[in-house]
Amino acid sequence: MFMPFYLIDFITRSNYKKYWEDTMKFGFFDDLNKEYVITTPKTPLPWINYLGTNDFFSLVSNTAGGYSFYKDAKLLRITRFRYNNVPMDTNGKYFYIKDGDTVWNPGWQPTKTDLDSYECRHGIGYTKWNSSKNGVKAEVLAFVPTDDTCEINRIKLTNTSSEAKDIKLFSYVEWCLWNADDDMKNFQRNFSTGEVEIVGSTIFHKTEYRERRNHYAIYSVNAPIDGFDTSRDAFLGAYHDNHDPEAVFNGACTGSEAHGWSPVAAHQINIKLNPGESKSYVFVLGYCENPEDQKWESKGVVNKAPANAMLAKYKTDEDVDKAFAKLNAYWDNLLSIYTVESNNDKVNRMVNIWNQYQCMVTFNMSRSASYFESGIGRGMGFRDSNQDLLGFVHLIPERARERIIDIASTQFENGSAYHQYQPLTKRGNSDIGSGFNDDPLWLIAGTSAYVRETGDISILKEMVPYDNDMSVATTLMEHLKRSFDFTVNNKGPHNLPLIGRADWNDCLNLNCFSEHPGESFQCFGPSEGPVAESVFIAGMFVKYGEEYAQLAELLGDTAEAERARKEIKIMYDAVLKDGWDGEWFVRAYDAYSNKIGSKECEEGKIFIESNGFCSLAGIGVKEGLAEKALDSVKKYLDCKYGVMILQPAYTVYHLELGEISSYPPGYKENAGIFCHNNPWVSIAETVIGRGDRAFEIYKKTCPAYTEEISEIHKTEPYVYCQMVAGNDAYIPGEGKNSWLTGTAAWTFCNISQYILGVYPTHKGLSVDPCVPHGFGDFKITRKFRGATYHIEVSNPSDVEKGVKELIVDGNKVDGCVIPFVDGKKEYNVKVVMG
Ligand code: BGC
Repeated sequence: MFMPFYLIDFITRSNYKKYWEDTMKFGFFDDLNKEYVITTPKTPLPWINYLGTNDFFSLVSNTAGGYSFYKDAKLLRITRFRYNNVPMDTNGKYFYIKDGDTVWNPGWQPTKTDLDSYECRHGIGYTKWNSSKNGVKAEVLAFVPTDDTCEINRIKLTNTSSEAKDIKLFSYVEWCLWNADDDMKNFQRNFSTGEVEIVGSTIFHKTEYRERRNHYAIYSVNAPIDGFDTSRDAFLGAYHDNHDPEAVFNGACTGSEAHGWSPVAAHQINIKLNPGESKSYVFVLGYCENPEDQKWESKGVVNKAPANAMLAKYKTDEDVDKAFAKLNAYWDNLLSIYTVESNNDKVNRMVNIWNQYQCMVTFNMSRSASYFESGIGRGMGFRDSNQDLLGFVHLIPERARERIIDIASTQFENGSAYHQYQPLTKRGNSDIGSGFNDDPLWLIAGTSAYVRETGDISILKEMVPYDNDMSVATTLMEHLKRSFDFTVNNKGPHNLPLIGRADWNDCLNLNCFSEHPGESFQCFGPSEGPVAESVFIAGMFVKYGEEYAQLAELLGDTAEAERARKEIKIMYDAVLKDGWDGEWFVRAYDAYSNKIGSKECEEGKIFIESNGFCSLAGIGVKEGLAEKALDSVKKYLDCKYGVMILQPAYTVYHLELGEISSYPPGYKENAGIFCHNNPWVSIAETVIGRGDRAFEIYKKTCPAYTEEISEIHKTEPYVYCQMVAGNDAYIPGEGKNSWLTGTAAWTFCNISQYILGVYPTHKGLSVDPCVPHGFGDFKITRKFRGATYHIEVSNPSDVEKGVKELIVDGNKVDGCVIPFVDGKKEYNVKVVMG
């Protein structure tokens, strides 16, 4: 049962823990329909979904909360949401049904009227509700069509009673005045700028259109309406909220026209339903743009041509069915690129559906808009977007290509990079600036993944600007060279890479020394400390340096490949000399050259990042050190819910470490389970051939497994979250920051490329699984460079790793790589492990 938070006060901590440990789910997976079915609106947190694949996006919760935006969640926010508000999940796309004295919502919120039945199905790019109250059934389908800048909400109402019914349907959205940041701060201006137009059943939101905007939003329905409101105060009533809108409870909209204050869009439709009768309505929330010189129809009246053209496409149920079928076909096609059939339903479900879906969402959103990322904070992250690519590139390589060029365009001439950029302008964000010394190497990771996937080396020859300045453009390959050399040229006293403001761990701020609240740990202080070093970046350099060398070889530049490999060897040796602590890899050296993540430390003796990444890069494998490091990870960092980022947790604030020690023990980067780097350890385990352990780690954070503990975990059971509270936390196992995390891409790489073992190389697909005992035989279908691979893996001796035989179309092939033959469309591949 869902635990109301006020009850927590009544029970002791240990009872409380025990209570949560009696497992409970709030829904189930419907694999056939690729849906998660939520059976109660009272989930521990709002469980959300994303609608939209290209430019128009909506976040939607299981209780119909959320908001929409066009391209950029900060600059072009269409509807208003209230973060950090109570009740949770305030504002959305609401439908109210007034049936006699009862007012209810198909998604339960905001009236929270008890429903006779409730079901929410989050699917791939759509959400459906199926609810009923007092003999009226409401079925809602919400989705964003693949090729339009709008969201469709179709609501079908059925009278399941034996009496005729006169009901009233009201819609409601609250407009955001476009710039979401300004919208919630600049009231002295914003309360005076709101403007709308109402024509027939369409409400036009045109705030700021009179001046510098050439876009407006619409909310429309494909039926005549019996009333409308566009002023929030008129619709809700003074001192009312969206849970008790006066207009709805009075049974009539007021026909208000918003001038300033808070414009909204609400429609009223009076409906007569005979017993058994159904009626459906198509609501369209759209974003429209006009060319600068065609903004007006007449003075002060917006040109409605784009809106009319959009609405003409969604006039009937059949139109909606068609657009919905197109969306489903779009996703079926994408999800057919990598599929597995194994004896493990949970693996099948994650690989075939949810993990790939989340990869698309993280690719689209980076870390901008979720229920934990407000859409106004961060834009696209340089390192984040490169990593998101790793799990996405097989889906739509052309978009990955474009993204690589966008990211590389924000790099500086010396190889360093802006840490973030804004998706709308594609320009580097100077507020956060540069100095995160892992960033450049991630560009090699993303580019290499793209070239291995597609074989398209033309991208390496593409001319790409620095800091968006085309006059200093070079080839992308030259960008990668500068990325590589940035590490070569920025080493510290132990010949290890300088960390700068931070490496992958944004919170390990070794050159910051912040003493005053409010100073950003990432931006404060000198970034370019000449001493603090990162063993993690050293691991990255070895891994991605080799990928860089291979790209150089592809271009025929063997001298450059040779030079790169010499540098890699130097780094490898430096790690073994000063980055090894006896039982595990050191994490870093601070600004005084003291070790971090060493047995010499009192707290923070061992960290996950350097151990995972150095081992997966192959450092210390032949010397037996990687195995030792991974054993130490298991011994010191493992817990029931995953592998913690460090142990023991920091119990006091360390000036010389920065944000990492600002978190209470067990949370976030201070000994939380940072899901993002769990797959690094799992991958490292596959590198040394330990399939049991690799899979054990995979399972711990895998949503299909953690679904069983939804009441502890709290976040959506179909997607990964960034962080799960570690052993030191008040409630270990509690998840936070769901959806937008590099975990999506890395776990997909882990399961698809390392555990199941189908990895794209420059020469073709390689198949080299590393599975737990008892995993059994499995089949994989993989589309790759225009061909379809039907791969059957059998494991007669039940080994964890090893390919005894590879047979391609009846012919035995040496090694694990299926040679790629240009133009060949089908490959039938048999792999015998042993
Ligand atoms: C950031 C990542 C970073 C991670 C660990 C995330 O919030 O988006 O860039 O690697 O935290 O600090």
